[in-house]
Amino acid sequence: MPLTEPAVTTTAPAPAPLRVATRRRLLMCRPRHYDVTYSINPWMHPEKSTDTALAVRQWERLRDLYLELGHVVEEIDPIDGLPDMVFAANGATVVDGKVYGARFRHLQRTAEGPAYLDWFARRGHTELLWPEYVNEGEGDILTVGRRLLAGTGFRTDPRSHAEAQEFFGLPVTSLTLVDPNYYHLDTALAVLSDDEVMYYPAAFSEGSRSVLRTLFPHAILATAEDAAVFGLNAFSDGRHVLLPDAATGLKAQLSARGFEPIGVDLSELLKAGGSVKCCTLELRER
Ligand code: ARG
Repeated sequence: MPLTEPAVTTTAPAPAPLRVATRRRLLMCRPRHYDVTYSINPWMHPEKSTDTALAVRQWERLRDLYLELGHVVEEIDPIDGLPDMVFAANGATVVDGKVYGARFRHLQRTAEGPAYLDWFARRGHTELLWPEYVNEGEGDILTVGRRLLAGTGFRTDPRSHAEAQEFFGLPVTSLTLVDPNYYHLDTALAVLSDDEVMYYPAAFSEGSRSVLRTLFPHAILATAEDAAVFGLNAFSDGRHVLLPDAATGLKAQLSARGFEPIGVDLSELLKAGGSVKCCTLELRER
């Protein structure tokens, strides 16, 4: 049989798909003890002042937005002496109701791992794993449909990727981060739906960029400017995408794809290297 040339057709650009939000259950931690007292990432400058009251107000605005959108927000009590505990995303990874505990890289945050795991135990979860390997929860382990993307390079030990795959019984794809400004996967990539992401290519190794292109050929790509205002530290419910307000390029790209971007100002928390997604741990029940 002779090979045939693929047919060339000219069609109008496809209309943006209709986006449907699904109700999420979220865990957050009020930044009552928030401060920048040490530096474990390039954004943290303990010599500069922080305004805890302003951090609380900005955080409350984010929580209220979630509630207004119809999501359920649960709260874990903040612990004095753990100023980064506001970044609930780092506290665990929860999929199908199974809780994979976090084990932190830095001494300053190690007590957060057991504190979060204890919250889940008291909430009645029975499938809990205290991990053998360092992993910083949803900061580095993101769920896209029935697959997990797992970051490494700065915080999470790549051996935890296999541990998570075995525990959840879901395929885990390892991605290597190379830019210290984007030290957690959730600072360089955001999940938008069951099969769509947006990311900043330069934050990843060459091999990982190729993996991302293969898995998500139509992904939204962030500019350096949008990445630098933490535009990728975003939360999506399938329709609404909450992200730092300053990420103007991403907001336009999201709108063009039929999403509804909602800009949020978390400038105080950015002083610790965190924003929307860092403050939000998704409780994925079965
Ligand atoms: N100061 C915190 C740290 O460096 C910020 C964590 C941000 N959380 C996140 N999910 N990216 O560990």
